[in-house]
Amino acid sequence: MVNKSERILIVDDEVTIRKLLRQKLSREGYQCEEAGSAEQALEKLTSNLTELVILDIRMPGKSGIELLPEIRVSYPDTAVVMATAVAEIDIAIQCMKQGAYDYISKPFILDKVMLCVDRTLEKRRLELNIREYQQHLEQKVEEQTQEIRRVFLGAIEALVFALETKDKYTAGHSRRVTEIAVAIGRELGLSPDDIEDLRWAGLLHDVGKIAVDQLIQNKPGKLTPEEYEHIMIHAYVGAGIVKPVVNDKVVEMIEHHHDHYDGSGLHQVIAGEDIPLGARILAVADAFDAMTSDRPYRSAMSLEEALNEVRRCTGTQFAPIVAAAFLKIPVAEIVRAEV
Ligand SMILES: [Fe+2]
Repeated sequence: MVNKSERILIVDDEVTIRKLLRQKLSREGYQCEEAGSAEQALEKLTSNLTELVILDIRMPGKSGIELLPEIRVSYPDTAVVMATAVAEIDIAIQCMKQGAYDYISKPFILDKVMLCVDRTLEKRRLELNIREYQQHLEQKVEEQTQEIRRVFLGAIEALVFALETKDKYTAGHSRRVTEIAVAIGRELGLSPDDIEDLRWAGLLHDVGKIAVDQLIQNKPGKLTPEEYEHIMIHAYVGAGIVKPVVNDKVVEMIEHHHDHYDGSGLHQVIAGEDIPLGARILAVADAFDAMTSDRPYRSAMSLEEALNEVRRCTGTQFAPIVAAAFLKIPVAEIVRAEV
């Protein structure tokens, strides 16, 4: 069904031709505007949404051939039909290659003009519908992807909390590490996106412990080097588990959260500022929470003792800028709020 409320701009330097077309198109129900030159046409296009331009190829000053690409660039949703003398068919075809929808030849046979206008507007309408449908589909796919990601991350998060709950020594650890890490990130002035990455990395940093032997993890005595090495696989394993659903930054934070700033950590391949900032932040938050929690082989340090330990290990285990930021945050309040 043709929507006759569409607006048509007739661009021709000959007033009789404009009047002729306007009369016919108006009778058919279209809203018509006229322009006697390219400059006038651009003015009309700026002030009104125009669905179709009938554009004379030959005009004094800027020609229709010159105006066509300008319209295509500035008004890509406006269809253009070229008006041409019979002898100019080659030029008209050239114009179609440059984006004109069709052409009509002078002297006009008005029924043919109407057919061309109706067909062009129908084609334009279909193109817009297809584009809108594609955009709608893309948006739907994006929404579904986000939803799947959210559900998956939620499931992994639930798994982490379930793992922690099973073990009285680590209950609530990931949530506290996240709160502390986010506070450090804010103190360092990280962007909201980086804070969001840090939040996910904090919640998921120990998910790899699913691969760790519970007997070794809960061993009351000192760990042998082999046992320590076994426990430390959790950083690498955890990065692999979350890789399909989080961005690379989060993966790297998890993979390197036990790296020491001076490079002295187990099997460490990068050191110093090469360790991703998020991983350096997690390292401090993680170690602080571990120090202030009971462990099978020792009881918790006091807050003051743990803070002193962070100070003592600044520049060796911990990155100086991160440790300095950590020492500024109200960690006692954060830990209390989490209990
Ligand atoms: Fe860890």
